[in-house]
Amino acid sequence: MGFDSKFFSDAENELSEIRMRNSEILDRRAGEISAKYPDIAELRRELSGTLGKLVAIITERADDAREKISALEKENLALQERIRTSLIKKGYPGDYLSPIYSCKICRDTGIVDDHYCDCFMDIVKRRAAEKLNSTTPLKLCTFDDFSLAYYDDEVPTELGPTARKIMAKNLEICRKYAEDFHLPCGNLLLRGKTGLGKTHLSLSIATEVIKKGYNVIYGSVPDLLRKLDKEKFEGNEVMNLLETADLLILDDLGAEMDNRLYTSLLYSLINTRLNASMPMIISTNLEYRELGQKYDERLSSRLMTMNGLYFAGKDIRVLKSGE
Ligand SMILES: Nc1ncnc2c1ncn2[C@@H]1O[C@H](COP(=O)(O)OP(=O)(O)OP(=O)(O)O)[C@@H](O)[C@H]1O
Ligand SMILES: [Mg+2]
Ligand SMILES: [Zn+2]
Repeated sequence: MGFDSKFFSDAENELSEIRMRNSEILDRRAGEISAKYPDIAELRRELSGTLGKLVAIITERADDAREKISALEKENLALQERIRTSLIKKGYPGDYLSPIYSCKICRDTGIVDDHYCDCFMDIVKRRAAEKLNSTTPLKLCTFDDFSLAYYDDEVPTELGPTARKIMAKNLEICRKYAEDFHLPCGNLLLRGKTGLGKTHLSLSIATEVIKKGYNVIYGSVPDLLRKLDKEKFEGNEVMNLLETADLLILDDLGAEMDNRLYTSLLYSLINTRLNASMPMIISTNLEYRELGQKYDERLSSRLMTMNGLYFAGKDIRVLKSGE
């Protein structure tokens, strides 16, 4: 994938920190056990002694080297087993003194079968996503500071229920979406006029989903399209990230300039993610009718398949400025 090489060297550094941390933990455990249980310490000394014997056999080049090595292997396994059972007898897990790996697949080397391990690519993607998100207010909004008091509870809206009832339902759906987030999962299309909390709720979802360890990309559509346009001739790092992030939040769809390149980039991105069942949250000020006018049918029909939440009420930016 076309990620900047800087993110690869960042990932290598991060992996080497993980290895270091794990080996420190192991050293601490070994120190603790040696201090408490000299018998286990003795077994561990014998175990490391088998390595010296192995080197000696190899340098000796004796005719019966093969038999000696296989006897040594047996000795080594038997010692490991005795350490295991002693540990368990003393109430420790059997592998308490075995090497610790954060990723069992690549044993924290970052490589399996000549390929980067998924754990390594996850770090690369997270680093690149952090850079792309660094200009956005990802941490600023939470469900807890989303108040229903701003929405009227007296006058029925054109849809029937009051704005507060509609928004209480939207809040519940968004909370549940964040709580149940997994891969693959559904999409949300947040629709409604300006200042009604679409960005606030999508960022609240982002905050929760990030806490669960998923990588989330948030961006306003005009901003992301400008970035995609700029990288047209220099790899496709931003497009890769937008296509592969666990959750993609496209804010302010419809606020971008009318332009055929933009529409085709949007179509390609949204189509790729929908086909792969990769979750998206899109927010827009446009009504369905306007989406149909602005975008060609291929794109607008895909937007219509998303789970739409209609936002009601009065502009909260204005309400808050008068508080
Ligand atoms: N229910 C709410 N409780 C508290 N603050 C809110 C609530 N809804 C919105 N806000 C705040 O009001 C401001 C405007 O909300 P937000 O940006 O989410 O609106 P929006 O629907 O995304 O508008 P636009 O369509 O213009 O992008 C933000 O500062 C947001 O934090
Ligand atoms: Mg907004
Ligand atoms: Zn791995």
